[in-house]
Amino acid sequence: MQFDRHRKLRTSSYMRDLVRETHLRKSDLIYPIFVVEAPDIKKEVSSMKGVYQISLNLLEKELKEVYELGIKSVIFFGIPNHKDAVGSGAYDPDGIVQEACKLSKKLYPDLIVILDTCLCEYTDHGHCGLIHPETKDVDNDSTLPLLVKTAVSQAQAGADIIAPSNMMDGFVVEIRQGLDEAGFAHVPIMSYGIKYASKFYGPFRDAAESTPSFGDRRTYQMDPANRLEANRELHSDLNEGADMMIVKPALSYLDIIRDVRNDTNIPIVAYNVSGEYAMTVNAIEAGLLDKSVIIEQLDSMKRAGADLIITYFAKEVCSMIDRGEYNNE
Ligand code: PBG
Repeated sequence: MQFDRHRKLRTSSYMRDLVRETHLRKSDLIYPIFVVEAPDIKKEVSSMKGVYQISLNLLEKELKEVYELGIKSVIFFGIPNHKDAVGSGAYDPDGIVQEACKLSKKLYPDLIVILDTCLCEYTDHGHCGLIHPETKDVDNDSTLPLLVKTAVSQAQAGADIIAPSNMMDGFVVEIRQGLDEAGFAHVPIMSYGIKYASKFYGPFRDAAESTPSFGDRRTYQMDPANRLEANRELHSDLNEGADMMIVKPALSYLDIIRDVRNDTNIPIVAYNVSGEYAMTVNAIEAGLLDKSVIIEQLDSMKRAGADLIITYFAKEVCSMIDRGEYNNE
């Protein structure tokens, strides 16, 4: 019987390194940080061990740690003091993420700052846009100008990349035009245009205090059962001028990452969301899984076609590389 001897290429660690197809680098990782407007707080998020809400006045220490670990980019989420029906904190030039961005750019000018353009952390009802008084649903077109205002204020604060996550139709083209008119034609848009209405965001909503007070997000975020719809979203965003595309969540959506990879040549970002983090951390803590599953999961996202990964594990992965627990060469 004739057969192939695949094991020839698995005989030693050097041999395996030689033929390894996927490498996770520090520069692939984007680290999310939750910044609180109220002072003197460093509070662990109960559903996300190792992730903290941090006040602006305590942010310097966190940024130093991130920078020294070799992380090259961060994304800030804000927990404002004040929320209202129109999410005014989102487009306040001195709002919480704008201030975090200014501080970061002052201390570490080369650290890439990505800001999330959405209203949900700033509205008292927790939805990503304005509520229509009659339908009680999020109103697409009246929300767009506020998103543009938010994106421009973020660019003015020095953001390197604008990442709109609101899932309103037309947000990419409107924000692109707004940025161009305000003199920010050089600032790229990382679109969260393929964002599913996922229960895996639960712990994030604890961390960002952004759970909707009524209803859910299914009239604007995508149905997890759909695949072709992601292709429609992708093509709209490409036509509208997206420079990078986020697929979110990541682990249950590796097929979507692969579809997007096969269909476009712009960089793809996998968002390894809060629920994926919480599941994995709890399983490791309980002794059910080995810590190396973190690498296995992130590798699977890159193997599926992601170029970059937004992950709460970014610091941990950098430490694993530094300690020699993960050989990425
Ligand atoms: C804001 C936003 C959310 C996440 C990122 N940006 C929450 C949501 O849409 O409900 C979730 C990220 C995560 O779960 O880690 N719209």
